[in-house]
Amino acid sequence: MDKYVICGEKPLHGTVDISGAKNAVVAILPAVVLANSICRIENMPNIADVSTALEILDALGANIRRIDRHTVEIDPSTIVTQTVPHDLAKKMRASYYFIGALLGRYGRARVPMPGGCNFGVRPIDQHLKGFASLGAQVFPMKDGMIEAQTDQLVGNSIYLDMASVGATVNIMLAAVYAEGMTVIENAAKEPHIVDLANFLNTMGADIRGAGTDVIKIRGVARLYGATYSIIPDQIEAGTYMAAAVATHGDITVRNVIPKHLESITAKLQEMGAQVEEFDEEVRVYCPGPTRHCNVKTMPHPGFPTDMQPQIAVLLSMAQGTSIINESVWDNRFRYVDELRRMGAEIQVDGKLAVVQGVSQLMAAPVKAMDLRAGAAMVLAALAAKGTTEIEEIQYIERGYEDIVEKLRGVGADIRRVTETEAIAKQA
Ligand code: EPU
Repeated sequence: MDKYVICGEKPLHGTVDISGAKNAVVAILPAVVLANSICRIENMPNIADVSTALEILDALGANIRRIDRHTVEIDPSTIVTQTVPHDLAKKMRASYYFIGALLGRYGRARVPMPGGCNFGVRPIDQHLKGFASLGAQVFPMKDGMIEAQTDQLVGNSIYLDMASVGATVNIMLAAVYAEGMTVIENAAKEPHIVDLANFLNTMGADIRGAGTDVIKIRGVARLYGATYSIIPDQIEAGTYMAAAVATHGDITVRNVIPKHLESITAKLQEMGAQVEEFDEEVRVYCPGPTRHCNVKTMPHPGFPTDMQPQIAVLLSMAQGTSIINESVWDNRFRYVDELRRMGAEIQVDGKLAVVQGVSQLMAAPVKAMDLRAGAAMVLAALAAKGTTEIEEIQYIERGYEDIVEKLRGVGADIRRVTETEAIAKQA
């Protein structure tokens, strides 16, 4: 097992460039299936989830040309199958976006139940309800395979029981070719929803209202290849902003959309950090001690659940007692036991965590329980006294491009040690 070895207590200083957004690109790559000619996708983050999405496109028969680390050209016109292989689907949650895309383009999709981070039950009833409302026949699950088919999807009005990101994406993908108008009510409003709509519209779709509660999609007959650049990653940016606060450093986070960071900025300021906003960058510094505050995760524009473990690390070192209310996922405090090993004082009761700030975290061997939990362990290790080893880093690398290099660039003492190197050292 590869691991990160981090020697903490070094204030981070300098500039970090943010990569393209994971949760946008994992929707945009499946959307390429809907085009009838070559798409060029730029500013792709170089992360494991992107490799998996490209492997799925390759397995479907699309022609893929990697131009450089961040750019790819995909010709979907060579696709020959509508079945996504099991071994690829289980590697990432977003593999289920191929259901909407394949159903929309070919009227048929067979996609295994996806993998991804474990935050308790992750139902997809709203996705399936959406496909059925558009007239697709959705078959009972067999051998872990979700199967849907139709002769022609027809636009309809769909009210989502909760503002689900995944269901909003999947219904948009399925509806672009549906006859007439589809209306998604109580739609998710996250920046990646808007990015997907912009990409589809660049290809010739007719989608309005993305970024609000109501998205209207008028079906079109054809979508053309397009060139598109992915938006910056809100959560990667927030994580480096938190790194500046955790280490009492001074980091300029570059290539961001400050508007997307407002809820994170507001909480960091409430804790006593300084945040300066510029057109495409934010500078975060925190010379003094931090104060407690309460955090409730909410769909966008609320405080993102994907920043909840990272802010918990900051609160665990802040003066006073803070309460975190996780309102999106049932079970997103699995990292708390790991953080406790490092001296954090956190009590969890269902969807609430009570965090009593301590003056110093201490190094300990810990694990990344999932992607953002892993990012939280990195932040804790950067702040802690001593040398922390983090295992299960494959989760972190699903969503953070070059995290070791980026952190070293601002002065962190972090190394990635491969299993072979670790064994050789022991021998
Ligand atoms: N839900 C249902 N039924 C559904 C769909 C969702 O009950 O059919 C519930 C979920 O169980 C959850 C809530 O609705 O309690 C919200 O789920 P949502 O569908 O919005 O989440 P998702 O699409 O599965 C995306 C991100 C997650 C992020 C959430 C919330 C992607 C690929 N994933 O997941 O990102 O936490 O939205 O913002 O976009 C991450 O990046 O670390 C990550 C987990």
